[in-house]
Amino acid sequence: MLHLEGIESVILEQRSREYVEKRVRAGVIEFGIANLLEEVGAGERMRRQGLVHRGIEFRYDHGAHRIPLSELADGRSYTVYGQQEVVKDLIALRVAQGAPLYFDAEVTSIEGVTTNSPTVEATLDGELLRVHADFVAGCDGSFGASHRALPEGAFRRFERVYPFSWLGILAEAPPATEELIYARHENGFALYSMRSPSISRLYLGVRPDDSLEEWPDDRIWDELSERLSTDERPELNRGPILERGITSMRSVVIEPMRFGRLFLAGDAAHIVPPTGAKGMNLALGDVRVLYEAVRNFYQKDDESLLDSYSPTCLERVWRAEEFSNYMTQMLHPNYEDDFENGVQRARLRQAAETREAATVLSRNYVDLNSLS
Ligand code: PHB
Repeated sequence: MLHLEGIESVILEQRSREYVEKRVRAGVIEFGIANLLEEVGAGERMRRQGLVHRGIEFRYDHGAHRIPLSELADGRSYTVYGQQEVVKDLIALRVAQGAPLYFDAEVTSIEGVTTNSPTVEATLDGELLRVHADFVAGCDGSFGASHRALPEGAFRRFERVYPFSWLGILAEAPPATEELIYARHENGFALYSMRSPSISRLYLGVRPDDSLEEWPDDRIWDELSERLSTDERPELNRGPILERGITSMRSVVIEPMRFGRLFLAGDAAHIVPPTGAKGMNLALGDVRVLYEAVRNFYQKDDESLLDSYSPTCLERVWRAEEFSNYMTQMLHPNYEDDFENGVQRARLRQAAETREAATVLSRNYVDLNSLS
């Protein structure tokens, strides 16, 4: 975005190109975020290969309930397209522009963020690389150098750790249904998603201390079948598991999202549990706001959008936190607390079976980052 406006930038990526292009992440792109990718010239392959979806299904009490998202959200849809595919497309665009992008660059310090000329130092192939800039965007996750540059006491960190993890698999198996399925079953959560007409992506809610050794292939498939099946629906398609991993679930918000000339974006500022499919969308929503602010600074000599960056983002961030928390609580049975389970099941029935609750859910699911 900056490049299109003639504003120079340097990107320092800690990992290798190969690593970031292969790292499997989530795959749901909101309506407005898909448009943003297209506007910046990175949406061509997404439009060609992404799967456009207009609904999701909830399964509980052995039944299936479709939420007609597009019908309830002014015709807007969402696109299923892997996050690493978005990363590949953005890298390809950057490389084609001939703009600086360094891989395997380990940032060792971010200095002078309270002055007008901060400096970032990195090591690259054993050499020191020093970048002098007007602004630093900290897009380096919750363990990155940006965090180490934040002074103690100047920030608040809000956190919730959930008592379950997700075991995710990528399988060479054609999706058995067209739309995503979120299931709440006595045994735990399950999610049916996909990446292409021949690749399925599935998740199981597991205990936080479970390890992959405890989950051989047959146990994964049997458990997915049990949690996702209904009285009428066919069995899942099984196939070789190409990739697997366990991810813990947490919500985090850092306030404010700015310190001097250092602006936090994406996971550096907030983490959402994956149940709401908001992580990548929220990160792209942040940089859209930051881009406008930086552009206004250079083109209009106006700092007001830089000053409002943090409050503007945080309003949307908390809304995504609320939605992700709502989806997470509602869909994961609590292994200890049956009162909580009663409340959550009532909430799920309300979401699936009343138009009012389903409308709020639909708008948040398909386009939260564009809502005002
Ligand atoms: C995925 O396809 O990886 C996916 C879909 C929906 C979610 C999370 C992950 O809520």
